[in-house]
Amino acid sequence: MSQWQVNQGLQIAIDGPSGSGKGTIAALIGSELALPVLDTGLLYRYVGWRAEEKNVSLDDENAVLSMLDDAIHGMVWKPEGIYLREGNVEKDCTSSLRSENAGARASKVAAMPQVRVALLDVQRDIAKLGCVMDGRDIGTVVLPDAQAKFYLTASQRERARRRWSQLKAKGEDADLDRIAAELRERDERDTGRDCAPLEKAVDAIHIDSTIMTMDDVVERILNVLQRRKLMKGTDE
Ligand code: DC
Repeated sequence: MSQWQVNQGLQIAIDGPSGSGKGTIAALIGSELALPVLDTGLLYRYVGWRAEEKNVSLDDENAVLSMLDDAIHGMVWKPEGIYLREGNVEKDCTSSLRSENAGARASKVAAMPQVRVALLDVQRDIAKLGCVMDGRDIGTVVLPDAQAKFYLTASQRERARRRWSQLKAKGEDADLDRIAAELRERDERDTGRDCAPLEKAVDAIHIDSTIMTMDDVVERILNVLQRRKLMKGTDE
């Protein structure tokens, strides 16, 4: 049980670029406060992955849009991941969605305005009863009324280094320069697109985690929530 009691329906938005640590932070905050966590990147990853399964080229936007309704209809979000429902069977596809390839594909479908619109209701529906949500446009577009918004960054080199050490820890072959180049490309696409680009919401708190530990970041966020009286200790 959590040692914290949060205000009913509390929505916490955490945005930031790839590798800024927002997924890890969102998961830690969610577990500390016993709130559901939605990693919204997984939804875009799912659409890109589903297109690949259906042999739909991401260069053909109309083809992606034609499979979109079906894809979203078959998508099931659970706090532990994303499932594909086919008939009565639900298949956990989360690990496929975590691949580098799925990330690159996600960034392409995420630049398609109609994909973003289609995923908006899905995200808001999940957030209804309170949640921690991480992504690129949560504070600006998806949950503009979230009670607490954070914009998490770290230098590009540090983000590449984190990704590199994650891959190394998994025993995968990883090249720091290649990862840095891919990250740069992803940043450009995510910040440069016309529709809901990655940007800090005016009322978001900017946290640069380049030289902070994840625990420091969590502590900082919990302090803000307490100060704003969005949560309190169960013994208070
Ligand atoms: O956070 P991630 O790496 O799983 O996200 C994958 C891609 O999806 C990323 O390139 C940007 C996009 N994305 C987005 O545009 N909006 C979101 N709310 C979440 C992710």
